[in-house]
Amino acid sequence: MSATKKTGTKGFNSQDPFQNIEIHVEGLLPPPPIVRIEGWQYFVHKPNAVRPVMPSVDEFVAMSAKEKKEFGKLRKKFHSEMPLLETTALSRIHSESIRLAAMNYSAAPGARMGIVLDGLGTVGKSSIAMELGKKYELSWRKNILPKIQGGNFSRPIPVVYATLPGILTISDFNRLITSFMGISVPASATVPWLNDRIIDAMQQCGTSLVIIDDIHFLQMRNRSAQTINNHLKFLASCVSATFVYAGINVEGSGLLAEGNSKENAFVSQTQHRFKTFPISQFTKNSSDFRALLSSFEASLALMNQPLGSLVLMSDFIHDRTAGFMGAISNLIREGANVAIEDGKEQLTRSILEKVKLAFASEAHQNSTTSRK
Ligand SMILES: Nc1ncnc2c1ncn2[C@@H]1O[C@H](COP(=O)(O)OP(=O)(O)OP(=O)(O)O)[C@@H](O)[C@H]1O
Ligand SMILES: [Mg+2]
Repeated sequence: MSATKKTGTKGFNSQDPFQNIEIHVEGLLPPPPIVRIEGWQYFVHKPNAVRPVMPSVDEFVAMSAKEKKEFGKLRKKFHSEMPLLETTALSRIHSESIRLAAMNYSAAPGARMGIVLDGLGTVGKSSIAMELGKKYELSWRKNILPKIQGGNFSRPIPVVYATLPGILTISDFNRLITSFMGISVPASATVPWLNDRIIDAMQQCGTSLVIIDDIHFLQMRNRSAQTINNHLKFLASCVSATFVYAGINVEGSGLLAEGNSKENAFVSQTQHRFKTFPISQFTKNSSDFRALLSSFEASLALMNQPLGSLVLMSDFIHDRTAGFMGAISNLIREGANVAIEDGKEQLTRSILEKVKLAFASEAHQNSTTSRK
């Protein structure tokens, strides 16, 4: 086989996968990871991608091949960075969480009411939690920061965002937070020392929202998970912040019941201190699902997409994705890029069939097809 053989997809060279892609923004590096404050700040301050200005059909037809290629690159970049859509779950969770965080902000010291975002994988939990953190931080910087020390606040970190990497010790957890906040820690640091640094730093940096993602690693039948949960309760009591947890099947993990037994559930502090928002996959034929497809369609940068055609394919799209946000978003955005490459400029069923999805979605489609 020749080293430069083209693959089946038109214009795609397997040896040069980035030739048609405008790589990320300012530099040519991918965005920094959100495990440290620099990555979080990049995420918070990066402006939302804006849909390219669309020419008229006549202007598009009149473009040279080179202009069309450049315009295609611009639109494919946009499809890969499209801002989140304002779903019913996102709007409701954001408005309730922001109201709660504002109430907590001026509440007396002690444990505050927190938020749990609970749902299966790829329903959009992290996106909702991160976007909440971004909105909160931008609002805090605009409305609160200028009033603190006349705006001369040296190190504002209003939001701390941490993703649990698995079951961990209290020391590991603390190091996750100190590393995010940029606090240097000697190798010999003890847990009490780390606790003090975190509590002081959060106070000094104005931290008032703490988001812990993938909290499902704290399976409460596991003793070290119980220890971390107690540690989180301790931190929440010492820091004047609203805590937001996001994870898969949090209710089933026993975190809210703190151990999964009925007796524990009754006395569980976590259960009494957190409002839970379940986030589910979209139901076939529901108005929410149709509204989502219409919003996706309206935000695409395609030249020949008749509005309403995605809704007409809603059963097919649901069969392919099982209503999971991640699969829907992937199918539509990648499909739009195939439609640009292929020149059809429209998401037809045959184009959507070309997009390969994650294993779970493909397995779901095979099961729905065999049932028909
Ligand atoms: N409101 C939205 N609008 C558009 N796309 C969205 C929205 N919410 C989530 N997505 C897309 O869905 C995909 C999955 O979202 P996300 O990672 O937030 O899910 P998750 O529930 O945290 O998944 P996991 O359990 O695997 O961590 C992402 O690619 C994200 O861009
Ligand atoms: Mg997630």
